Amino acid sequence: MTPVHDKPVRLGVNIDHVATLRNARGGTHPDPVDAAMAAIEAGADGITAHLREDRRHITDGDMDRLAALCEDRDVPLNMELAATEEMVEIAARLKPHAACLVPERREERTTEGGLDVAGQHNRLVPAIARLADAGCRVSLFIEAAPHQIDAAASTRAEVVEFHTGAYAHALDDGNEDKAQAILEQLRDGGRSADAAGLEVHYGHGLTFDNVRPVAAIPEARELNIGHFIIGEAVFLGLGPAIRRMADIIADARAAA
Ligand code: PXP
Repeated sequence: MTPVHDKPVRLGVNIDHVATLRNARGGTHPDPVDAAMAAIEAGADGITAHLREDRRHITDGDMDRLAALCEDRDVPLNMELAATEEMVEIAARLKPHAACLVPERREERTTEGGLDVAGQHNRLVPAIARLADAGCRVSLFIEAAPHQIDAAASTRAEVVEFHTGAYAHALDDGNEDKAQAILEQLRDGGRSADAAGLEVHYGHGLTFDNVRPVAAIPEARELNIGHFIIGEAVFLGLGPAIRRMADIIADARAAA
């Protein structure tokens, strides 16, 4: 059997905030699809984009072009979406490799911010089924809480992405004890989800400084990182920022 740390962790690069910058001027530059292309050339293992109901960054046209680019380059596209009828139909038409259901409205969230799969089970099950029937690998963006993992495992979702935002915020606030406690929950969640047959991803708020312990979680198979990489691209360039993040992840994995 392959030791768990021999399994690599993929880096999904979220290009939403290239669109945020473009939309600040209302024009066409910088183009998130050009950013996706540069990310692929820099070695990103996948592209992530969130088509929000309010279209505040990525647009429908961006999503169409991203789907075409990823198909052409044979790179997995991870589309994040709310479980609304409109979004689910768009994803079912585009057929991205993965469809990650995320909360957008307050009532869809748990206290920390993940999708409340336990509380929204009956609403989510048909959306998950529609996406799975369309050929998408369904992922659920949840807190690493046992009842959310159990609820996720009882659906047709194949993946859970654990929300690392609270961990990142605790470190930002200088609260090391809280960050370590949340990290323990993220590790426990990885073990439980893996045991339940779910692939384990992590994302939100990850940076060069806080990514190592998350990358070292044995069950982690993918990290989705956006805001920090796009921000750091201002200083380093997008390719070097991605390569540096990938190197830190690989190093943390090798050292674990
Ligand atoms: N994963 C999911 C499900 C997300 O919704 C996001 C963006 O909010 C990310 C990962 C990336 O988070 P960040 O931009 O903070 O790196």
